[in-house]
Amino acid sequence: MSHASPVRRITVHDLQQMTLRGERWSMLTAYDATTARIFDEAGIPVLLVGDSAAQVVYGFDSTLPVTVDDLVPLVAAVVRGSTHAMVVADMPFGSYQASAARALDSAVRFLQQGGAHAVKLEGGQRVLPQVEALVSAGIPVVGHLGLTPQSVNALGGYRVQGRGEAGDLLLRDAKALEAAGACAVVLEVVPAELAAHVSEILTIPTIGIGAGAATDAQVLVWQDLAGLTEGPRPRFVKQYADLRSELTRAVQAWDGEVRSGAYPGPEHEYA
Ligand code: KIV
Repeated sequence: MSHASPVRRITVHDLQQMTLRGERWSMLTAYDATTARIFDEAGIPVLLVGDSAAQVVYGFDSTLPVTVDDLVPLVAAVVRGSTHAMVVADMPFGSYQASAARALDSAVRFLQQGGAHAVKLEGGQRVLPQVEALVSAGIPVVGHLGLTPQSVNALGGYRVQGRGEAGDLLLRDAKALEAAGACAVVLEVVPAELAAHVSEILTIPTIGIGAGAATDAQVLVWQDLAGLTEGPRPRFVKQYADLRSELTRAVQAWDGEVRSGAYPGPEHEYA
């Protein structure tokens, strides 16, 4: 039996090495094969099938309603669409909190049915048994601290986390996740100084979103950076394109030509 593969995927070892060399890297969300292929060919090393799919794919107003059943097909599509990137599956609300055994069942589904290479889950010390169980089973785990959207009701909204004494707790959580074997940790919407401090202390990579410039990596929801999402954007989002306007222009042009009869033209016909 050969373990050789024509194109090698990025591994957690590669991410750790890049971080040790001081090379910053990116993680971008993806939810379907078409965009996964584009991002993969663009050289994005890590694709996250985020539970943000609840909002950007399924149209809910929080991440809480999505389930493992909803996300597994998206993970499988992103894996099929990519050849180089490491694909991280986000463990949705309710799929891991109850017990380490529950977490293992959910993570196994993402690896077996979705083909994911790692999973991400939210929380610090309260989810250590879950992290330890997954790591013991050989599953790379990305932690997630700070603004953890699955706890939006307990946090009282989408607000900055880790200010003042809460920063000490976040640091303890980050160290505990590293000790439990997590391969990286997302820091979401926390003061830049705190994220810099955590990044300095941890040896595993930190992945920031609204956490300033000192983290080892950055993550964004792709629809935000591409200008597809509507409404006021969080401060940390930088818009690199205006796909919303471009797509609106394209579909209106097509609709106009359908109405006028200009589309389809002779060049679109079959003899
Ligand atoms: O679900 C998601 O997209 C995320 C990122 C924002 C980190 O968790």
